[in-house]
Amino acid sequence: MNTDFPRAPLPLPRAEDVTEELAALDGPPVVPAGLRRTAFPVITKEDVFKLLLSTRVDPAKVVEDFAEAYREHVGAAHAIPTASGTSSLHLALVGAGVRPGDEVVVPAFTFIATAQAVVAAGAIPVFADIEPDTYCLDPAAAERAVTERTRAIMPVHVHGLPADLTALRAVADRHGLALVEDASHAHSARFEGRVAGSIGDAAGQSLMADKNFPVGGEGGIAFFASADAHARAVEYVERHGIDYGMSWIAAAFGASQLERLPYYDEVRARNAARLAEVLGDTGLFSAPHVPEGRTHAYNMYRIGLHPDAVGLGDLPVHAVKEVVHELLVAEGVPAREWQNTPIPCHLPFRRREGFGGGYPFTLNPAAARDYAPEDFPVTLQMLSSTLVLCRELRSPVEYERLERYGHAFAKVARRPDAIRKLVGGREFPLPHEKAARLG
Ligand SMILES: Cc1ncc(COP(=O)(O)O)c(C=O)c1O
Repeated sequence: MNTDFPRAPLPLPRAEDVTEELAALDGPPVVPAGLRRTAFPVITKEDVFKLLLSTRVDPAKVVEDFAEAYREHVGAAHAIPTASGTSSLHLALVGAGVRPGDEVVVPAFTFIATAQAVVAAGAIPVFADIEPDTYCLDPAAAERAVTERTRAIMPVHVHGLPADLTALRAVADRHGLALVEDASHAHSARFEGRVAGSIGDAAGQSLMADKNFPVGGEGGIAFFASADAHARAVEYVERHGIDYGMSWIAAAFGASQLERLPYYDEVRARNAARLAEVLGDTGLFSAPHVPEGRTHAYNMYRIGLHPDAVGLGDLPVHAVKEVVHELLVAEGVPAREWQNTPIPCHLPFRRREGFGGGYPFTLNPAAARDYAPEDFPVTLQMLSSTLVLCRELRSPVEYERLERYGHAFAKVARRPDAIRKLVGGREFPLPHEKAARLG
Protein backbone atom coordinates (compact mmCIF):
# COMPACT_ATOMS: atom_id res chain seq x y z
CA MET A 1 0.00 0.00 0.00
CA ASN A 2 1.21 3.54 -0.68
CA THR A 3 1.37 5.49 2.55
CA ASP A 4 1.89 9.23 2.96
CA PHE A 5 5.58 9.21 2.19
CA PRO A 6 8.01 6.60 0.96
CA ARG A 7 9.98 4.93 3.74
CA ALA A 8 13.18 6.47 2.41
CA PRO A 9 13.07 9.61 0.28
CA LEU A 10 14.38 9.38 -3.26
CA PRO A 11 18.09 10.08 -3.24
CA LEU A 12 19.17 13.49 -4.49
CA PRO A 13 21.41 13.20 -7.54
CA ARG A 14 24.96 12.21 -6.66
CA ALA A 15 28.05 13.47 -8.51
CA GLU A 16 28.51 10.11 -10.25
CA ASP A 17 24.94 10.31 -11.66
CA VAL A 18 25.67 13.63 -13.38
CA THR A 19 28.56 13.12 -15.74
CA GLU A 20 29.19 14.75 -19.12
CA GLU A 21 28.72 11.39 -20.84
CA LEU A 22 25.26 11.23 -22.39
CA ALA A 23 23.35 8.07 -21.48
CA ALA A 24 22.52 7.60 -25.17
CA LEU A 25 26.29 7.37 -25.76
CA ASP A 26 26.82 4.83 -22.98
CA GLY A 27 27.21 7.23 -20.03
CA PRO A 28 25.24 6.71 -16.79
CA PRO A 29 21.62 8.01 -16.91
CA VAL A 30 20.83 10.89 -14.56
CA VAL A 31 17.64 9.07 -13.49
CA PRO A 32 18.55 5.40 -13.02
CA ALA A 33 15.92 2.82 -13.99
CA GLY A 34 15.00 2.05 -10.35
CA LEU A 35 14.05 5.69 -9.61
CA ARG A 36 11.71 6.37 -12.52
CA ARG A 37 8.33 5.34 -11.12
CA THR A 38 6.25 8.18 -9.69
CA ALA A 39 3.92 7.65 -6.71
CA PHE A 40 0.69 9.61 -7.06
CA PRO A 41 -1.82 10.16 -5.61
CA VAL A 42 -0.92 9.85 -1.95
CA ILE A 43 -3.17 7.23 -0.36
CA THR A 44 -2.96 6.87 3.40
CA LYS A 45 -4.35 4.13 5.62
CA GLU A 46 -6.84 6.73 6.83
CA ASP A 47 -8.04 7.26 3.24
CA VAL A 48 -8.61 3.53 2.87
CA PHE A 49 -10.46 3.40 6.18
CA LYS A 50 -12.72 6.32 5.19
CA LEU A 51 -13.43 4.65 1.88
CA LEU A 52 -14.57 1.51 3.68
CA LEU A 53 -16.71 3.52 6.08
CA SER A 54 -18.46 5.20 3.16
CA THR A 55 -20.02 1.79 2.28
CA ARG A 56 -22.34 2.45 5.24
CA VAL A 57 -23.65 5.68 3.73
CA ASP A 58 -26.29 5.99 1.02
CA PRO A 59 -24.22 5.94 -2.23
CA ALA A 60 -26.17 8.87 -3.67
CA LYS A 61 -25.29 10.93 -0.59
CA VAL A 62 -21.57 10.08 -0.93
CA VAL A 63 -21.62 11.44 -4.50
CA GLU A 64 -23.73 14.48 -3.57
CA ASP A 65 -21.47 15.41 -0.63
CA PHE A 66 -18.34 15.09 -2.72
CA ALA A 67 -19.78 17.21 -5.56
CA GLU A 68 -20.91 19.87 -3.10
CA ALA A 69 -17.50 20.06 -1.39
CA TYR A 70 -15.64 20.33 -4.69
CA ARG A 71 -18.16 22.83 -6.12
CA GLU A 72 -17.42 25.00 -3.12
CA HIS A 73 -13.66 24.66 -3.65
CA VAL A 74 -14.10 25.82 -7.26
CA GLY A 75 -16.62 28.52 -6.43
CA ALA A 76 -19.08 27.54 -9.16
CA ALA A 77 -22.79 28.14 -8.62
CA HIS A 78 -24.09 24.66 -9.58
CA ALA A 79 -22.55 21.25 -10.29
CA ILE A 80 -23.41 17.83 -11.71
CA PRO A 81 -20.94 15.02 -10.90
CA THR A 82 -20.42 12.71 -13.87
CA ALA A 83 -18.83 9.44 -14.95
CA SER A 84 -16.09 11.13 -17.01
CA GLY A 85 -14.72 14.44 -18.24
CA THR A 86 -16.22 13.83 -21.68
CA SER A 87 -19.74 13.41 -20.25
CA SER A 88 -19.26 16.52 -18.08
CA LEU A 89 -18.40 18.56 -21.19
CA HIS A 90 -21.45 17.15 -22.99
CA LEU A 91 -23.69 18.31 -20.12
CA ALA A 92 -21.92 21.67 -19.89
CA LEU A 93 -22.62 22.29 -23.58
CA VAL A 94 -26.25 21.22 -23.31
CA GLY A 95 -26.69 23.38 -20.22
CA ALA A 96 -25.17 26.34 -22.05
CA GLY A 97 -27.89 25.98 -24.69
CA VAL A 98 -26.04 24.11 -27.46
CA ARG A 99 -28.49 22.24 -29.71
CA PRO A 100 -28.14 19.76 -32.59
CA GLY A 101 -26.70 21.40 -35.71
CA ASP A 102 -25.14 24.31 -33.80
CA GLU A 103 -21.47 25.14 -34.19
CA VAL A 104 -19.06 25.29 -31.26
CA VAL A 105 -15.61 26.85 -31.68
CA VAL A 106 -12.87 24.74 -30.07
CA PRO A 107 -9.07 24.90 -30.20
CA ALA A 108 -7.18 22.79 -32.76
CA PHE A 109 -4.82 21.83 -29.95
CA THR A 110 -6.39 19.91 -27.06
CA PHE A 111 -7.35 16.31 -26.30
CA ILE A 112 -9.79 14.83 -28.83
CA ALA A 113 -12.53 14.54 -26.15
CA THR A 114 -13.07 18.34 -26.22
CA ALA A 115 -14.32 18.11 -29.80
CA GLN A 116 -16.03 14.74 -29.36
CA ALA A 117 -18.12 16.18 -26.53
CA VAL A 118 -19.42 18.73 -29.05
CA VAL A 119 -20.36 15.87 -31.39
CA ALA A 120 -22.04 14.06 -28.46
CA ALA A 121 -24.22 17.15 -28.03
CA GLY A 122 -25.25 16.82 -31.70
CA ALA A 123 -23.26 19.94 -32.61
CA ILE A 124 -20.33 20.52 -34.95
CA PRO A 125 -16.86 21.41 -33.67
CA VAL A 126 -15.30 24.27 -35.63
CA PHE A 127 -11.57 24.44 -35.03
CA ALA A 128 -9.44 27.55 -34.48
CA ASP A 129 -5.70 27.97 -33.90
CA ILE A 130 -3.95 28.68 -30.59
CA GLU A 131 -1.79 31.49 -29.22
CA PRO A 132 1.96 30.97 -29.67
CA ASP A 133 2.88 31.69 -26.06
CA THR A 134 0.07 30.09 -24.00
CA TYR A 135 -0.96 27.29 -26.47
CA CYS A 136 -4.60 28.11 -25.56
CA LEU A 137 -7.37 29.10 -27.99
CA ASP A 138 -6.50 32.38 -29.76
CA PRO A 139 -9.43 34.80 -29.22
CA ALA A 140 -8.86 36.44 -32.65
CA ALA A 141 -8.83 33.06 -34.42
CA ALA A 142 -11.93 32.02 -32.46
CA GLU A 143 -13.73 35.17 -33.58
CA ARG A 144 -12.82 34.52 -37.23
CA ALA A 145 -14.41 31.05 -36.89
CA VAL A 146 -17.77 32.44 -35.71
CA THR A 147 -20.71 32.12 -38.13
CA GLU A 148 -24.46 32.65 -37.85
CA ARG A 149 -24.83 29.09 -36.56
CA THR A 150 -22.24 29.39 -33.77
CA ARG A 151 -23.75 28.88 -30.32
CA ALA A 152 -20.71 28.63 -28.04
CA ILE A 153 -16.96 28.98 -27.71
CA MET A 154 -15.22 26.28 -25.68
CA PRO A 155 -11.62 27.19 -24.75
CA VAL A 156 -9.40 24.61 -23.05
CA HIS A 157 -7.11 25.59 -20.18
CA VAL A 158 -4.50 23.48 -21.83
CA HIS A 159 -1.89 21.77 -19.63
CA GLY A 160 -3.40 23.73 -16.70
CA LEU A 161 -2.97 27.35 -17.86
CA PRO A 162 -6.28 29.27 -18.07
CA ALA A 163 -7.08 30.57 -21.56
CA ASP A 164 -7.55 34.32 -22.03
CA LEU A 165 -11.09 34.37 -20.65
CA THR A 166 -11.38 38.17 -20.72
CA ALA A 167 -10.78 38.33 -24.47
CA LEU A 168 -12.86 35.20 -25.13
CA ARG A 169 -15.75 36.55 -23.06
CA ALA A 170 -15.62 39.74 -25.14
CA VAL A 171 -15.83 37.68 -28.36
CA ALA A 172 -18.71 35.65 -26.92
CA ASP A 173 -20.58 38.80 -25.87
CA ARG A 174 -20.08 40.52 -29.24
CA HIS A 175 -21.74 37.56 -30.99
CA GLY A 176 -24.26 36.50 -28.33
CA LEU A 177 -22.50 33.17 -27.63
CA ALA A 178 -22.06 31.03 -24.54
CA LEU A 179 -18.59 30.58 -23.06
CA VAL A 180 -17.95 26.98 -21.91
CA GLU A 181 -14.66 26.05 -20.24
CA ASP A 182 -12.88 22.73 -20.70
CA ALA A 183 -11.10 22.80 -17.34
CA SER A 184 -9.90 19.19 -17.50
CA HIS A 185 -6.23 20.09 -16.98
CA ALA A 186 -6.80 23.05 -14.70
CA HIS A 187 -7.83 21.98 -11.18
CA SER A 188 -7.39 24.96 -8.84
CA ALA A 189 -5.84 27.09 -11.65
CA ARG A 190 -6.85 30.73 -11.35
CA PHE A 191 -7.71 33.47 -13.81
CA GLU A 192 -7.71 36.89 -12.16
CA GLY A 193 -8.49 35.35 -8.80
CA ARG A 194 -11.29 33.04 -9.93
CA VAL A 195 -10.86 29.29 -10.12
CA ALA A 196 -11.07 27.60 -13.53
CA GLY A 197 -14.49 26.05 -13.97
CA SER A 198 -16.32 28.88 -12.22
CA ILE A 199 -15.84 31.59 -14.87
CA GLY A 200 -17.72 30.52 -18.00
CA ASP A 201 -21.46 30.04 -18.44
CA ALA A 202 -20.68 26.37 -17.91
CA ALA A 203 -17.63 24.14 -17.63
CA GLY A 204 -16.65 20.50 -17.78
CA GLN A 205 -13.74 18.91 -16.00
CA SER A 206 -12.17 15.46 -16.02
CA LEU A 207 -11.31 13.92 -12.64
CA MET A 208 -9.74 10.75 -14.05
CA ALA A 209 -6.58 9.14 -12.80
CA ASP A 210 -4.09 11.17 -14.91
CA LYS A 211 -5.32 14.48 -13.59
CA ASN A 212 -3.96 16.64 -10.77
CA PHE A 213 -7.12 15.95 -8.78
CA PRO A 214 -8.13 12.35 -9.39
CA VAL A 215 -11.16 10.59 -8.04
CA GLY A 216 -10.89 6.79 -7.99
CA GLY A 217 -10.68 5.63 -11.63
CA GLU A 218 -12.86 7.63 -14.04
CA GLY A 219 -14.93 10.68 -13.19
CA GLY A 220 -15.79 14.25 -14.05
CA ILE A 221 -17.91 17.22 -13.03
CA ALA A 222 -19.93 19.83 -14.89
CA PHE A 223 -20.34 23.35 -13.49
CA PHE A 224 -23.03 25.91 -14.34
CA ALA A 225 -23.19 29.63 -13.65
CA SER A 226 -27.01 29.81 -13.65
CA ALA A 227 -29.86 27.74 -12.28
CA ASP A 228 -31.34 27.71 -15.81
CA ALA A 229 -28.23 26.15 -17.36
CA HIS A 230 -28.10 23.57 -14.57
CA ALA A 231 -31.80 22.76 -15.01
CA ARG A 232 -31.37 22.34 -18.79
CA ALA A 233 -28.61 19.77 -18.23
CA VAL A 234 -30.63 17.89 -15.57
CA GLU A 235 -33.67 17.86 -17.82
CA TYR A 236 -31.59 16.61 -20.78
CA VAL A 237 -30.28 13.63 -18.78
CA GLU A 238 -33.80 12.75 -17.64
CA ARG A 239 -35.39 13.19 -21.07
CA HIS A 240 -32.78 11.02 -22.78
CA GLY A 241 -32.53 8.44 -20.02
CA ILE A 242 -28.74 8.72 -19.99
CA ASP A 243 -26.77 7.38 -17.03
CA TYR A 244 -23.83 9.74 -16.70
CA GLY A 245 -23.65 9.39 -12.91
CA MET A 246 -20.42 9.32 -10.90
CA SER A 247 -19.77 6.09 -9.03
CA TRP A 248 -19.92 6.35 -5.22
CA ILE A 249 -16.51 4.76 -4.82
CA ALA A 250 -14.93 7.35 -7.12
CA ALA A 251 -16.62 10.09 -5.07
CA ALA A 252 -15.52 8.60 -1.74
CA PHE A 253 -11.93 8.44 -2.97
CA GLY A 254 -12.20 12.01 -4.33
CA ALA A 255 -13.51 13.28 -0.99
CA SER A 256 -10.34 12.29 0.81
CA GLN A 257 -8.11 13.52 -2.03
CA LEU A 258 -9.90 16.90 -1.93
CA GLU A 259 -8.49 17.52 1.56
CA ARG A 260 -5.02 17.09 0.09
CA LEU A 261 -5.58 19.13 -3.10
CA PRO A 262 -4.27 22.48 -1.73
CA TYR A 263 -1.11 20.65 -0.66
CA TYR A 264 -0.69 19.07 -4.11
CA ASP A 265 -1.25 22.52 -5.66
CA GLU A 266 1.54 24.05 -3.61
CA VAL A 267 3.97 21.23 -4.29
CA ARG A 268 3.36 21.45 -8.02
CA ALA A 269 3.85 25.21 -8.07
CA ARG A 270 7.08 24.89 -6.11
CA ASN A 271 8.47 22.14 -8.32
CA ALA A 272 7.47 23.95 -11.52
CA ALA A 273 9.25 27.10 -10.36
CA ARG A 274 12.39 25.13 -9.51
CA LEU A 275 12.41 23.47 -12.94
CA ALA A 276 11.86 26.84 -14.66
CA GLU A 277 14.91 28.20 -12.86
CA VAL A 278 17.09 25.35 -14.10
CA LEU A 279 15.73 25.44 -17.67
CA GLY A 280 16.25 29.21 -17.83
CA ASP A 281 20.01 28.68 -17.42
CA THR A 282 20.30 26.16 -20.27
CA GLY A 283 19.65 28.41 -23.28
CA LEU A 284 18.30 25.44 -25.25
CA PHE A 285 15.15 25.04 -23.14
CA SER A 286 12.46 27.39 -21.86
CA ALA A 287 9.76 26.92 -19.23
CA PRO A 288 6.01 27.49 -19.88
CA HIS A 289 4.94 31.12 -20.16
CA VAL A 290 2.40 32.24 -17.54
CA PRO A 291 0.76 35.64 -18.25
CA GLU A 292 0.09 38.09 -15.40
CA GLY A 293 -3.07 37.36 -13.46
CA ARG A 294 -3.10 33.62 -14.14
CA THR A 295 -1.86 30.61 -12.20
CA HIS A 296 -0.85 27.44 -14.02
CA ALA A 297 -1.90 24.07 -12.58
CA TYR A 298 0.88 22.21 -14.47
CA ASN A 299 -0.98 19.03 -15.24
CA MET A 300 1.59 18.97 -18.04
CA TYR A 301 4.73 21.03 -18.41
CA ARG A 302 5.50 21.99 -22.02
CA ILE A 303 9.11 22.93 -22.63
CA GLY A 304 10.22 25.10 -25.57
CA LEU A 305 13.36 24.34 -27.59
CA HIS A 306 15.61 27.12 -28.92
CA PRO A 307 18.37 25.57 -31.06
CA ASP A 308 19.68 29.02 -32.07
CA ALA A 309 20.64 29.71 -28.42
CA VAL A 310 23.23 26.89 -28.52
CA GLY A 311 24.54 27.42 -32.08
CA LEU A 312 22.14 24.94 -33.74
CA GLY A 313 19.93 27.53 -35.45
CA ASP A 314 20.87 26.17 -38.91
CA LEU A 315 19.20 22.79 -38.12
CA PRO A 316 15.43 22.22 -38.48
CA VAL A 317 13.91 22.67 -35.02
CA HIS A 318 11.84 19.47 -35.30
CA ALA A 319 15.02 17.45 -36.03
CA VAL A 320 16.72 18.95 -32.96
CA LYS A 321 13.60 18.16 -30.96
CA GLU A 322 13.59 14.50 -32.05
CA VAL A 323 17.24 14.03 -31.11
CA VAL A 324 16.87 15.90 -27.81
CA HIS A 325 13.82 13.75 -27.06
CA GLU A 326 15.89 10.58 -27.57
CA LEU A 327 18.69 11.95 -25.39
CA LEU A 328 16.32 12.92 -22.57
CA VAL A 329 14.55 9.54 -22.59
CA ALA A 330 17.93 7.80 -22.41
CA GLU A 331 18.70 9.93 -19.32
CA GLY A 332 15.49 8.63 -17.72
CA VAL A 333 13.37 11.76 -18.30
CA PRO A 334 9.87 10.75 -19.51
CA ALA A 335 9.60 13.56 -22.08
CA ARG A 336 6.80 13.17 -24.64
CA GLU A 337 5.23 14.93 -27.60
CA TRP A 338 1.64 14.78 -26.18
CA GLN A 339 -0.28 15.31 -29.44
CA ASN A 340 1.48 15.30 -32.76
CA THR A 341 -1.19 16.73 -35.05
CA PRO A 342 -4.05 19.27 -34.93
CA ILE A 343 -7.19 17.58 -33.57
CA PRO A 344 -9.25 18.17 -36.79
CA CYS A 345 -6.74 15.93 -38.60
CA HIS A 346 -7.82 12.89 -36.57
CA LEU A 347 -9.97 10.36 -38.44
CA PRO A 348 -13.35 11.12 -36.74
CA PHE A 349 -13.19 14.68 -38.10
CA ARG A 350 -11.75 13.77 -41.48
CA ARG A 351 -14.37 11.05 -42.10
CA ARG A 352 -17.21 12.85 -40.32
CA GLU A 353 -19.24 9.67 -39.84
CA GLY A 354 -20.37 10.89 -36.42
CA PHE A 355 -22.97 8.60 -34.90
CA GLY A 356 -23.57 6.98 -38.29
CA GLY A 357 -24.95 8.37 -41.52
CA GLY A 358 -22.86 11.48 -40.89
CA TYR A 359 -24.96 12.72 -37.94
CA PRO A 360 -24.57 15.44 -36.63
CA PHE A 361 -22.35 16.83 -39.43
CA THR A 362 -25.20 16.39 -41.95
CA LEU A 363 -27.34 18.82 -39.95
CA ASN A 364 -25.11 21.71 -40.95
CA PRO A 365 -23.06 20.83 -44.06
CA ALA A 366 -21.55 24.32 -44.29
CA ALA A 367 -19.79 23.77 -40.95
CA ALA A 368 -18.35 20.38 -41.95
CA ARG A 369 -14.99 21.52 -43.29
CA ASP A 370 -12.05 19.66 -44.83
CA TYR A 371 -9.25 20.82 -42.57
CA ALA A 372 -5.56 20.57 -43.48
CA PRO A 373 -2.79 20.66 -40.86
CA GLU A 374 -1.51 23.86 -42.45
CA ASP A 375 -4.76 25.62 -41.46
CA PHE A 376 -3.24 25.71 -37.94
CA PRO A 377 0.30 27.10 -38.35
CA VAL A 378 0.72 28.08 -34.69
CA THR A 379 -0.22 24.58 -33.55
CA LEU A 380 2.21 23.06 -36.08
CA GLN A 381 5.03 25.34 -34.94
CA MET A 382 4.37 24.45 -31.30
CA LEU A 383 4.29 20.71 -32.08
CA SER A 384 7.64 21.00 -33.89
CA SER A 385 9.48 22.94 -31.22
CA THR A 386 8.29 21.70 -27.80
CA LEU A 387 8.36 18.62 -25.59
CA VAL A 388 6.18 17.76 -22.61
CA LEU A 389 6.72 16.39 -19.16
CA CYS A 390 3.41 14.71 -18.51
CA ARG A 391 2.07 14.99 -15.02
CA GLU A 392 5.49 14.68 -13.49
CA LEU A 393 5.11 17.62 -11.17
CA ARG A 394 2.21 16.55 -9.09
CA SER A 395 3.51 14.15 -6.46
CA PRO A 396 4.85 15.25 -3.09
CA VAL A 397 7.88 13.06 -3.64
CA GLU A 398 8.80 14.67 -6.93
CA TYR A 399 11.31 17.27 -5.76
CA GLU A 400 14.31 14.92 -5.81
CA ARG A 401 13.26 13.52 -9.18
CA LEU A 402 12.82 17.01 -10.63
CA GLU A 403 16.32 17.89 -9.43
CA ARG A 404 17.48 14.96 -11.52
CA TYR A 405 15.41 16.08 -14.50
CA GLY A 406 16.99 19.52 -14.20
CA HIS A 407 20.45 17.97 -14.34
CA ALA A 408 19.44 15.90 -17.37
CA PHE A 409 18.14 18.97 -19.29
CA ALA A 410 21.32 20.89 -18.43
CA LYS A 411 23.51 17.95 -19.47
CA VAL A 412 21.79 17.63 -22.87
CA ALA A 413 21.95 21.41 -23.44
CA ARG A 414 25.72 21.32 -22.83
CA ARG A 415 26.15 18.95 -25.78
CA PRO A 416 25.18 20.77 -29.01
CA ASP A 417 28.09 18.91 -30.63
CA ALA A 418 26.41 15.55 -29.92
CA ILE A 419 22.98 16.86 -31.00
CA ARG A 420 24.43 18.08 -34.32
CA LYS A 421 26.15 14.75 -34.93
CA LEU A 422 22.99 12.75 -34.17
CA VAL A 423 20.85 14.94 -36.43
CA GLY A 424 23.51 14.12 -39.08
CA GLY A 425 22.07 13.11 -42.45
CA ARG A 426 18.91 11.56 -40.91
CA GLU A 427 15.46 12.30 -42.30
CA PHE A 428 12.99 13.51 -39.66
CA PRO A 429 9.26 13.65 -40.51
CA LEU A 430 7.40 16.63 -39.09
CA PRO A 431 5.30 15.62 -36.02
CA HIS A 432 2.02 15.83 -37.96
CA GLU A 433 3.42 13.65 -40.77
CA LYS A 434 3.55 10.71 -38.34
CA ALA A 435 0.38 8.67 -37.63
CA ALA A 436 -2.00 10.77 -35.47
CA ARG A 437 -1.77 9.75 -31.81
CA LEU A 438 -4.41 10.37 -29.16
CA GLY A 439 -1.96 11.63 -26.56
C1 LIG B 1 -8.51 18.59 -22.35
C2 LIG B 1 -9.32 17.37 -22.05
N1 LIG B 1 -10.66 17.44 -22.19
C3 LIG B 1 -11.43 16.38 -21.92
C4 LIG B 1 -10.91 15.18 -21.50
C5 LIG B 1 -11.82 14.02 -21.29
O1 LIG B 1 -11.82 13.52 -20.01
P1 LIG B 1 -12.20 11.99 -19.68
O2 LIG B 1 -11.07 11.14 -20.22
O3 LIG B 1 -12.30 11.96 -18.20
O4 LIG B 1 -13.47 11.69 -20.38
C6 LIG B 1 -9.53 15.05 -21.32
C7 LIG B 1 -8.96 13.77 -20.86
O5 LIG B 1 -7.79 13.57 -20.71
C8 LIG B 1 -8.70 16.17 -21.62
O6 LIG B 1 -7.37 16.09 -21.52
